[in-house]
Amino acid sequence: MNSLQLQELLRAAQNAAKAAYNPYSKFSVGCAILTKTGKVFCGCNVENASYSVTICAERVAGTQAILFGEREWDSMVVVSPNGVSPCGVCRQFINEFAPDLRVWTGYLDQDILSGPETLGQLLPKAMTLSRN
Ligand code: THU
Repeated sequence: MNSLQLQELLRAAQNAAKAAYNPYSKFSVGCAILTKTGKVFCGCNVENASYSVTICAERVAGTQAILFGEREWDSMVVVSPNGVSPCGVCRQFINEFAPDLRVWTGYLDQDILSGPETLGQLLPKAMTLSRN
């Protein structure tokens, strides 16, 4: 990924965060995934009155990519008010498709990025099963 693609991914994640449905936490998260074929898929967090039903931005972006047949992912940018890194559930979700994903974290309204960290660094000893 070149620096222009990274900038584009950051913008896409920042735009996606504007769609966040977060009436409970008021915490907006946006995510953009760059696939190995060069496409970008985005997601925002979608909360629910039954809190645990909430879906994180990363899993919304990931399911969008899957829907469009894109299972091989190169990089991800996640933006939030305080630059959080993907939660444990999202790390396990990502591992299914992209155990070598490069993850960048950033902010809703500042063009500062941290990373990349690989998914293996974020989730060592990930749980896997053999696939039939
Ligand atoms: N959230 C994400 O969307 N991604 C993360 O990596 C961390 C947490 C969301 C879930 C919930 O809507 C809100 O942020 C507060 O946890």
